[in-house]
Amino acid sequence: MPYPTRVKIVEMGPRDGLQNEAAIVPLDAKVELIERLADAGLPAVEAGAFVSPKWVPQMADSAEVLQRIRRKPGVSYPVLVPNLKGLESAIAAGAQEIAVFGAASEAFSQKNINCSIAESLERFAPVCAEALAKGLTVRGYVSCVLGCPYEGAVAPAKVAEVAARLIELGCYEVSLGDTIGVGTPMKARAMLETVAHAVPVERLALHFHDTWGQALANILACLELGVAVVDSAVAGLGGCPYAKGASGNVATEDVVYMLHGLGLETGVDLDALAATGAWISGVLGRPTASKAGRALAARAA
Ligand code: HMG
Ligand code: MG
Repeated sequence: MPYPTRVKIVEMGPRDGLQNEAAIVPLDAKVELIERLADAGLPAVEAGAFVSPKWVPQMADSAEVLQRIRRKPGVSYPVLVPNLKGLESAIAAGAQEIAVFGAASEAFSQKNINCSIAESLERFAPVCAEALAKGLTVRGYVSCVLGCPYEGAVAPAKVAEVAARLIELGCYEVSLGDTIGVGTPMKARAMLETVAHAVPVERLALHFHDTWGQALANILACLELGVAVVDSAVAGLGGCPYAKGASGNVATEDVVYMLHGLGLETGVDLDALAATGAWISGVLGRPTASKAGRALAARAA
């Protein structure tokens, strides 16, 4: 299958990117980050998580974030929701899109959301039904699609099974997460091929962390199968607190640079995005993890 001509990037910086930060990022900075990313042309910016603040303290102010952001027409601002309590709070804060998050590994499911895979899917059923009934859209995640920090190898058939169930529950799209960034291109492609037998490729997204430096190569290998949605985080921020050894998401700047180099459209202004990456890295007090971001800064200096 040829490459898609346009790729939708779902920006993870404000949620996956910040959730693992030890120091609480000021509310103003979270709001500014989301607004700048939308202004840079990202069509979807994940804005927070309505999870237990005891589990992920950094996301405790997601309701305020959602209430404060200036919403750009045409941009979606999904938030993570693990259960009905989270859904209720997300709706009260004005969420129009939620994401439920499951896993293809039992051990990770237990560590991340304190229940088995089967229990998580049972828990998501009323969450999805109620969200859809209230007019929200629902995205799904499957974590550990290319390996688990606790169990090691994960069977692609298990990924396919969980992804198919999320679609049955009403998710319009399922994002396949290499949570600890261990995948390599041919394994990523083989996993996607297996999942695509159960869920049409048009309803799948790629969510690669870059722990082993493989994320761009994995994305390229999977684009060849026609998938056209990629999750990434500005400045390569990120990591899951319940995935030992996980590091940042693939950097949005690097993804955009690669896609534009391939002649694919994203609608993203790379300079505005890189400026946002440099700014948030400064807020966090560390250099950007984006190579394209660094190259652009060096060119401008
Ligand atoms: P639990 O302890 O089993 O839940 O946690 P519980 O129902 O027994 O409740 C315990 C306490 O949490 C109670 O408070 C509840 O009210 C409260 P207490 O009575 O002790 O004061 N609580 C909540 N508070 C606020 N919002 C809620 C909520 N639910 C319960 N929604 C639970 C189960 C799912 C809540 C917990 O495990 C949790 O919050 N986990 C979230 C973990 C997380 O956010 N991980 C990172 C995101 S996933 C990820 O990064 C991967 C991804 O990027 C894809 C990839 O890379 O693979 C998406
Ligand atoms: Mg992630």
